[in-house]
Amino acid sequence: MGTRLRARSHATLAARRRLEGIGGTGIAIIEMTIGGRTHDVTLKLESENPCGAIKDRTARALIGSLVDAGRLRPGMTIVESSSGNLALALASLAPAFDIGACLVVDPHIAPDKLRRLERTGAQIEMVDRTDAAGNYLHSRLRRVEQLVHDKPGFVWTDQYGSPANPRAHYTGTAPELHAQASLAKLVYVPVSTGGTFAGTRAYFARHAPGTEVVGVDVIGSVALGGSAGPRLLPGIGSSRRSHFVPTDVAVRSSIVDEGRAIACCRALRAQTGIAVGGSSGAALIACADQLADHPSSGPVAVLCPDGGADYTQTIYADDWVSRHKIDLAGTGIEPIERFQRLDRLGPAQGARRVRGRIARTPGHPFYMTTAADSSSPQKGPIHV
Ligand SMILES: Cc1ncc(COP(=O)(O)O)c(C=O)c1O
Repeated sequence: MGTRLRARSHATLAARRRLEGIGGTGIAIIEMTIGGRTHDVTLKLESENPCGAIKDRTARALIGSLVDAGRLRPGMTIVESSSGNLALALASLAPAFDIGACLVVDPHIAPDKLRRLERTGAQIEMVDRTDAAGNYLHSRLRRVEQLVHDKPGFVWTDQYGSPANPRAHYTGTAPELHAQASLAKLVYVPVSTGGTFAGTRAYFARHAPGTEVVGVDVIGSVALGGSAGPRLLPGIGSSRRSHFVPTDVAVRSSIVDEGRAIACCRALRAQTGIAVGGSSGAALIACADQLADHPSSGPVAVLCPDGGADYTQTIYADDWVSRHKIDLAGTGIEPIERFQRLDRLGPAQGARRVRGRIARTPGHPFYMTTAADSSSPQKGPIHV
């Protein structure tokens, strides 16, 4: 076998292994002290996916739906606009399908993530033109359109409109979370395209209507109907309204300040050792605001779309924080007084260890069904 062929089959095998490893992510339980009262919060850690983020699930679903529809065949190339995580997931999974990947990204991508993306060997298109609010989405989408028009064999996966996006979370993320935190009354989900939120919301509305799913966005994003403004964090927020989140029914949402989200990420890492991305910090702050106003509204769960490993040069770097004039001391993490880590539960050993924890803490509100239960998501139509 020639060297190039060997390298290609190695990449294919590695991508197939990644594909098989998607989903079944674990949880961590932390304690958050607010107004002198402690609240247990279940964090679902999507950083445990093979490429490090929830977008692995979305990528698998987007590619799969095109393959199933006969619109994507070996030798063709997928193209997508992404702030980072989906780009990395698509680029890492593409070899499993014998397809190429071309990712359109922008300068807000975390440098660590860009380096990982470069190592996949995928084609990277970096746009540089901002819109009036200083964001890049429209510019990225124009470039995608141009590429699909100009290059034969290029197909857009369309994370912004493909029903495969919310479906991935309806059939995967949400049933897992339901099994891991079945008594949660509120579940916080960050929003960008809105696919994760819409799929999760639809699942709980149908299978666990006692649990309300709250969409979390940031100031400056129009994803849930806010006004456009400058934004800093990749992964959360959007310069266009979500196609998946209904506008004709009341949707529960919370819009938070990016500085508070960043301060929250840093405090969580310092006090518990758990490092999450900025969107998770935003969701935690939204959850804390709710518990401060309504202390009895728990138990609560927070979906953490990615971890902190790729943000060592941004949200966890002091010089980046001061360069962007984020006043951490002024912002603080109010109303949170303290975080404490309670437990760390992997998906496989989850049931046994949760039972152990319940034995130690009679009446503990969190209950995890067996690993087998949580890995067999219910299928069904999705209404979003
Ligand atoms: C890092 C990250 N990945 C994924 C998501 C969810 O994205 P979407 O709304 O496009 O499903 C978010 C949302 O905030 C995010 O921050």
